[in-house]
Amino acid sequence: MSDHDVDDIAFLTGSPNESGFMVNKRAMYEPGAVMVCSQKRACCVVTLGFAAIIAVALIVAFTKPGCPEATYTGEPVPGLSINPTAAPPSTPPTATNGEEFPWSEVRLPFHVRPLHYDITLHPNLTTRHVQGEMTIKLTTIEETTAIIIHGDELNITQYSLQNKYGKPIEIVKFLVYPPHQQLYLGLSEILRRGSNYTLRMSFETSLKEGLEGFYLSTYTNGEGEKRFIATTHFEPTSARSAFPCFDEPHLKARFHLNIYREPQHFTLSNMPRQTSIPVEGSNLVMDEFQESVDMSTYLVAFVVCDYQVLSNLTAHQVNLSVYTPPNMVDQASYALRVASIILDYYHTFFGLSYPLPKLDLIAIPDFGAGAMENWGLVTYRETALMFDKRHSSSRAQQTVAVVIAHELAHQWFGNLVTMSWWSDLWLNEGFASFMENIGAEVAEPGWAMQEQFLVEKMHPALELDALLASHPISTPVNDPAQIESIFDTISYKKGASIISMLESFIGRAILQEGLRLYLDLHSYGTATTNDLWEALTQVTRKHGNHLDIKGIMETWTLQAGFPLISVSLQDGQVTASQGRFLVCEENVTDPNEPLNTTLGYRWHVPLTYITSANPRNQTMHWMNLTDVEFDVGKDVKWIKFNVGQRGFYRIGYDSAGWNAIIHLLKTDHEALTPADRASLIDDVFTLIKAGSISAAVALDLSMYLKAETRYIPWHTALGHLFQWVQLIFNYPAHTLMLEYIHNLVLPHYHRIGWNDTGTHLERLLRYEILWAAVQCGNTHAIQEAQLLFFEWRNHGLIIPPNLRSVVYSTGVRYGTEDDWRYCWQVYNTSTIPSETTLMLQAMAQTRDPWLMQQYLEYTLDNVKIRPQDVMTVLKEVSKNPGGRLPAWRMVRQHWSKISQLFGHGSFTIGAIIKAVTSPFTSSFDLGEVESFFKEVDVGPGERALAQALETIRLHIQWHEHNLKDLTQWLHQHLSLPLTNTSSEQY
Ligand code: BES
Ligand code: ZN
Repeated sequence: MSDHDVDDIAFLTGSPNESGFMVNKRAMYEPGAVMVCSQKRACCVVTLGFAAIIAVALIVAFTKPGCPEATYTGEPVPGLSINPTAAPPSTPPTATNGEEFPWSEVRLPFHVRPLHYDITLHPNLTTRHVQGEMTIKLTTIEETTAIIIHGDELNITQYSLQNKYGKPIEIVKFLVYPPHQQLYLGLSEILRRGSNYTLRMSFETSLKEGLEGFYLSTYTNGEGEKRFIATTHFEPTSARSAFPCFDEPHLKARFHLNIYREPQHFTLSNMPRQTSIPVEGSNLVMDEFQESVDMSTYLVAFVVCDYQVLSNLTAHQVNLSVYTPPNMVDQASYALRVASIILDYYHTFFGLSYPLPKLDLIAIPDFGAGAMENWGLVTYRETALMFDKRHSSSRAQQTVAVVIAHELAHQWFGNLVTMSWWSDLWLNEGFASFMENIGAEVAEPGWAMQEQFLVEKMHPALELDALLASHPISTPVNDPAQIESIFDTISYKKGASIISMLESFIGRAILQEGLRLYLDLHSYGTATTNDLWEALTQVTRKHGNHLDIKGIMETWTLQAGFPLISVSLQDGQVTASQGRFLVCEENVTDPNEPLNTTLGYRWHVPLTYITSANPRNQTMHWMNLTDVEFDVGKDVKWIKFNVGQRGFYRIGYDSAGWNAIIHLLKTDHEALTPADRASLIDDVFTLIKAGSISAAVALDLSMYLKAETRYIPWHTALGHLFQWVQLIFNYPAHTLMLEYIHNLVLPHYHRIGWNDTGTHLERLLRYEILWAAVQCGNTHAIQEAQLLFFEWRNHGLIIPPNLRSVVYSTGVRYGTEDDWRYCWQVYNTSTIPSETTLMLQAMAQTRDPWLMQQYLEYTLDNVKIRPQDVMTVLKEVSKNPGGRLPAWRMVRQHWSKISQLFGHGSFTIGAIIKAVTSPFTSSFDLGEVESFFKEVDVGPGERALAQALETIRLHIQWHEHNLKDLTQWLHQHLSLPLTNTSSEQY
């Protein structure tokens, strides 16, 4: 239930991050396929059409394309060795022309590096054809007789190399190796160490059909006409599909771009446009952009569109603009306001100015991720940028603020200082995720974003990291599929959580000073996790604190998982011991060898607590890979550990400890903060999953909720309670459980009501309580929602934004086929992005099997459902009890199409596997899932599949441990209702 609301931002919700109707790239390289560059073909390609247009630009280029006969002797190439001790591959890589490809690594060799790219592109938005020319200035780090560069789905038509005096160097061999997306240029002479060279290439490609690389997107304008835009998404490894490049994050260079366009369009790129020159004899204009600063290839971006813009100048003189389709520009002002505030704040927070003259934020109608931090040109999914206060919910508004805060943090963390290699991705994403709450808090001080950190980051991270199939934050990755697979909850949310924990024991001021030093030292360069620890150590030392930051933090970054701290109190003496917390008891082998095996799954834990004797001041004890004992005094009635849940660990109290806490919550819950209440709820429900305590403990604790009025604890509790409802869907306890939840919710349902008023958190809570009431079958809530739905559908009633999700979903659930079709029409015609998301969610609520089936089939047709929305549909349908089996059947039946569409290098495939298998609870289901996936290739979804299977096993275990206790407890307690009102009253 918790993620029912607008939630298509991948990492806020665990939904997909990559999607798209990718052409099968492998097929492109099969014999006979036309996209492949062969040596012969390269020799005789005639550049059609484009030649006339760019004749002027090409006067000096391509004097002698290198294509002599091959003279390769099989000798090792000087300088081409990353790992000289690595065993040679069993079969040597074979280039497209059948020759051996002399480089077998996925990573590029480090003998040359780029300094400067000059790129000219002419995309044709009608034919999809792209013509490109480029000049790369290179420097040689080691002597070499070859250059290896990335290129994917590019038809290289000409190439040449010159030394710094302009003397041509013959390229004696040109090879293409599609599996590694590499091009090999063998040279007639040795390139000298420390010298500069100029590599020129002409190439052709096409605008992609998926959501990666240089691709086409469409929208319908105010006159109902379809409009095309061309846009890019390169992270992590798709720049190579737009132009040949050294596509690794540490190989930074300057970029100078020229783009040809038709006059009805304009273009945007990382840097401001410098000139726009009409091309003589054609209807085209060439836009030239200023040269960039040194940057990684994955941050390059350009867009060709006919959008409208809203702009302002920030306090620090940055030209800030928000671009949207023309009929949506009135939904851009919120983004502009928030981005202005946050950009100015980060300038001060990081102590470094934003280095580019402008920053554009642009909404892209077809977008795989939530947003992408391209330097100076941040691209967004429409729902992550546009907000209309008359129509969009508080949740949708929060999404916009948070995503902007995240992407703007990357302008420093990621863009200015970039991880040296993807295995340190968490430095980018963990930090941006940590900063997004800080940035959003500044823009919206009343939203308690710091408090919300718990439910948005810490809890989801702890949930995933309790699986054996989790992975350490720092994980070696090599190929594009492995790289894609770590854009996950661990890099983002565990990354953010351990920074928050670090902040809790060194303080905001020292953290900030350390970050400033780190950014300052590595500006325009790259960094590793160690560099971060070094900067922080330097600053902590300076302030007289001698903590071993690196030693402490490596226990969290190099090992998967986190500790359960088991605590007991006897005669005023606390004993606390640590051990890895795994939620599934099953004895299977650990897939993750910790990167530092000497740690043995023990951690440096900052164990904090408050007690009844001292509830305001927390005390801390370090558990340095050890267990601890300490005195708290004999008169202590209760202890709450992990104050504010700032530490990335869970607490297991003994039964006396839980009883004391439950008593406290029932009698004086405000003695603890909302964060502490939420942390207790999250811990107790999770320990029950692991089977270490009885379900009765969580249920006893949950009874205090009748007095709880705050959002964070309610959000946490409803998430768990409705997960239990899902798990017992086919059991008699199901009705009892709904009745129990209804009893808890009912007083709040009355208190909160249907007026969309109050603070931000009250509005978020209202949505959750109303939806819970509907889920529990409260007839008053259902009727109220149906009435509003009827008035909306038939009389155009404007429903208050925060009621819409409940109204639309309930309207469809209890409505007719016509109601469903009405929503389908709204999905297809609305110009309010937040509304289209609500429609997607509402339509998944149908109880009509035929409509459900039809809806599922629409996902296979990209004209009906945009590829970016497919995951939302599959996920929402799978959450509907009537949709589980149809969704699973559909995914199995059309697996080859689905994996063809989503299987390439992206982890959408993993998200799909998780979405459709997550409701399964029996050994029978497990067997079915296992046997199906034994037969098919899941590619980059492998880890997600392991996590999905472990989750089903966990559900089975949950039944074995808890069903009896739960049923018994419900029987006992429902005979003594919590309140005098019951659902029958309505
Ligand atoms: N750098 C990512 C975008 C990205 C994600 C690129 C996955 C390649 C693969 C961007 O900064 C990001 O993290 N976007 C998030 C939104 C954010 C608010 C959590 C996303 O796309 O979900
Ligand atoms: Zn990010």
